[in-house]
Amino acid sequence: MSTVESPRARPGTRLALFGGRSPATFLARYWQRRSLLVRSAWPAVDELAAFASRERLFTLALRDDVESRLVTRSGMRYELAHGPFRRRHLERLPPRDWTLLVSGVNLEDRAADRVLRRFAFLPWARLDDLMVSIAAPGGGVGPHVDSYDVFLLQAAGRRRWRYGRQRDLTLRNGVPLKLLERFAPTHSETLAPGDLLYLPPGYAHDGVAVDTCVTCSIGFRAPLFQELAEAFLDDLRDRVALDGRYADPGLRPRSHPGEIDAAMRRQVAAALKRVRIDGAMIASFLGRWLTEPKPLIHFTVPPRTRRVDFAQRIARSGLALDLRTQMLYDRTTLYVNGEAMAMPQTDASTLRRLADRRGLAARACRDLAPATIALLHGWHRHGYLETTP
Ligand code: SIN
Ligand code: CO
Repeated sequence: MSTVESPRARPGTRLALFGGRSPATFLARYWQRRSLLVRSAWPAVDELAAFASRERLFTLALRDDVESRLVTRSGMRYELAHGPFRRRHLERLPPRDWTLLVSGVNLEDRAADRVLRRFAFLPWARLDDLMVSIAAPGGGVGPHVDSYDVFLLQAAGRRRWRYGRQRDLTLRNGVPLKLLERFAPTHSETLAPGDLLYLPPGYAHDGVAVDTCVTCSIGFRAPLFQELAEAFLDDLRDRVALDGRYADPGLRPRSHPGEIDAAMRRQVAAALKRVRIDGAMIASFLGRWLTEPKPLIHFTVPPRTRRVDFAQRIARSGLALDLRTQMLYDRTTLYVNGEAMAMPQTDASTLRRLADRRGLAARACRDLAPATIALLHGWHRHGYLETTP
């Protein structure tokens, strides 16, 4: 393994990615505010070829543990089909007017993950996935809005994007996709390989393939507060522990047995008020929820390795988080794939570095405390880490 750590985000460095702007300037001027088109933002388009090829995307779309969709268009009529698909079906698609979208390509290909990790100046907690679409000329998903920030990186061929901010977000009736009834774009740009378009949430957009083309969408996670609340309450239900039971030893004979009286209400209210919600519970829920693997995700358990061999191996060649592993931390706690553990006293900075950079170089693995080795060895046994034998 050559380098196992993602590049460090330097807020002041000017990046080709943003047309020579620094991440700090991009965030201050564009992020969640206005669109940005950067020509030749990604000069090394060859880096995208391995995972953005027709063969690779078709192969992923055959799998039932990968999310894929096929949108076909006939004039203004769109049809949507969900994967997994049969190879024969994909290979017999017509020469025009379809697009195949494959989500979570970063979970399958390290080169795709590296594209995501170029956005390391943003919190990993906001990053969702890298979706890749391949389209025949005329193919696209139609005019729509997304509720999240997206960077659209053209990997191959050309795609014409029309986009703009509009008030009228009325949706078309009777179509299987959420398409805008009226679309009034203010911009029209044709993206060539290496060009990047950033669109904030709520921008109307429509991308149509000019020739056979491949587009990478780097999408960001922005949960609805309702979604967070429901998940938090589910979590609370699993963790709440109230002792005692309703009791009424002084009960008097009732002339209105149908009534729920004030004493009963008071007793229940007093019990329920003992369900406390504090900052620590919210922090723990958030870390576990953000790192919870998506439903289709499975980890591949590697052959058993003795702890001593594992320690030698990582001291020799470092380690990397598996592409599917989600690792975050806060002041007191580490979160890995939906589990929380207290931040160890020793090696805390190394473990934070592992979460930030998604890997550790060999030299960072040489003087780890036995407890840290045990922790990492456990993760390795679950398939959460990759090492080079
Ligand atoms: C795409 O067609 O690759 C991107 C779809 C989108 O606009 O979200
Ligand atoms: Co979109």
